[in-house]
Amino acid sequence: MKKIVINGGKRISGKITISGAKNSVVALIPATILANDVVTLEGVPDISDVESLIEIMEIMGAKVERHREEGRLVIDTRSVVSRPLPYGKINSLRASYYFNGALLGRFGQATVGLPGGCDLGPRPTDLHDKAFKALGARKLQQEEAEHLEVIGDHLVGTTIYMDMVSVGATINTMLAASRAKGLTVIENAAREPEIIDVATLLNNMGAQVRGAGTDTIRILGTDTMHGAQHTVIPDRIEAGTYLALAAAMGDGVVIENIIYEHLESFIAKLEEMGVRMTIREDSIEVHKSENLKAVNITTVPYPGFATDLQQPITPLLLQTKGRGWIVDTIYEKRVNHVPELARMGADISVLEDRIIYEAPNELTGNQVKATDLRAGAALVTAGVIAQGKTEITNIEFILRGYDHIIEKLTAVGVDIQLVDL
Ligand code: EPZ
Repeated sequence: MKKIVINGGKRISGKITISGAKNSVVALIPATILANDVVTLEGVPDISDVESLIEIMEIMGAKVERHREEGRLVIDTRSVVSRPLPYGKINSLRASYYFNGALLGRFGQATVGLPGGCDLGPRPTDLHDKAFKALGARKLQQEEAEHLEVIGDHLVGTTIYMDMVSVGATINTMLAASRAKGLTVIENAAREPEIIDVATLLNNMGAQVRGAGTDTIRILGTDTMHGAQHTVIPDRIEAGTYLALAAAMGDGVVIENIIYEHLESFIAKLEEMGVRMTIREDSIEVHKSENLKAVNITTVPYPGFATDLQQPITPLLLQTKGRGWIVDTIYEKRVNHVPELARMGADISVLEDRIIYEAPNELTGNQVKATDLRAGAALVTAGVIAQGKTEITNIEFILRGYDHIIEKLTAVGVDIQLVDL
């Protein structure tokens, strides 16, 4: 077991390069099962969620060649068989539910352990089940796994209205529908960039997906699919995390390998605070920014302010002048970072449905624990800002989604180490 130790309070400068998107690659890897061929993924981030997914793929019989340094995965799924997946492995990450959609699409059945993931409050999968049922599958609840099987010879396309905007349910339905008979229409679909990324791979593998990125997606099922090459889009949440850090402590930090459109609502909030930036084709330079203004944040589905960025931006909010609040309409219980930040001297608390803060705050290093992925990222940023030493435990959460975070922060002047507990 290890912990992260940061000696904070120092300004930072230099360049941070953003890696491939975690929330895209965790769907792209299971999606390769549909190809029944060889698929090459480029720009794959070096994060533990990718390790877990590779292990599961190999248990199912896939052959995975990993070129870690180059960020390349060559995945051959011709020898994949649909067998019950190990609960222990499955429950480590929420995205394991994508195996349901991929296996159902290719084999007409799937037995996958119940998904896990960060504790953000209840994380049901009823919308996924409703979509699979509409396509002609039934679900048999086994003790720690869900068994899905198609009734009849194959899944049949239909129109599915999503009661809530759901990234996972939208992607999972696209996966299953890509091999169903006929046309599937997803109404009230989520519009996140990761959905477009998965649709791009599916189409390169021979599927016919139209409308990804809008709230109506049409999938015309195909009998066979084939191999492809695909480069993962940059991680907009990693980018937002480092933009917030640069705004708080930077004297000229360039964040490169970003897609501006994926960050528009986040950048608009930084500008509202008074953060000074130069926006270029695929990078943003954050200049030294002072006298920032406190702002309010409400998270909503894309293209609005992302729920995954409300925790990482909070340490920056604590350096502004004034009072503000944050309402997370996606996960109202996504507040586990608040008491940890308060232990570092932050004037922040949860009041009914919102997080309220008063700034500016002198943050002081302390021993804190990561409770989930983005809460952990917020504590890293707070540790860089705080005077003195911050020790963060439970860092496996952070390593799930931030590729080479120690190296990237060290390169811009942060005194940060990974040490044994
Ligand atoms: C994805 O989770 C992301 N994870 C999350 O990122 C992100 O916060 C979330 O989308 C944003 O919507 C991955 O892509 C692996 P949802 P997902 O289905 O798909 C409710 C991170 O930090 N819901 O869009 O699980 C749900 O409870 C992670 O990288 C149902 O009620 O989220 C939530 O309130 C955290 N029934 C809302 O919908 C369902 O069947 C949106 O969830 C599914 C979801």
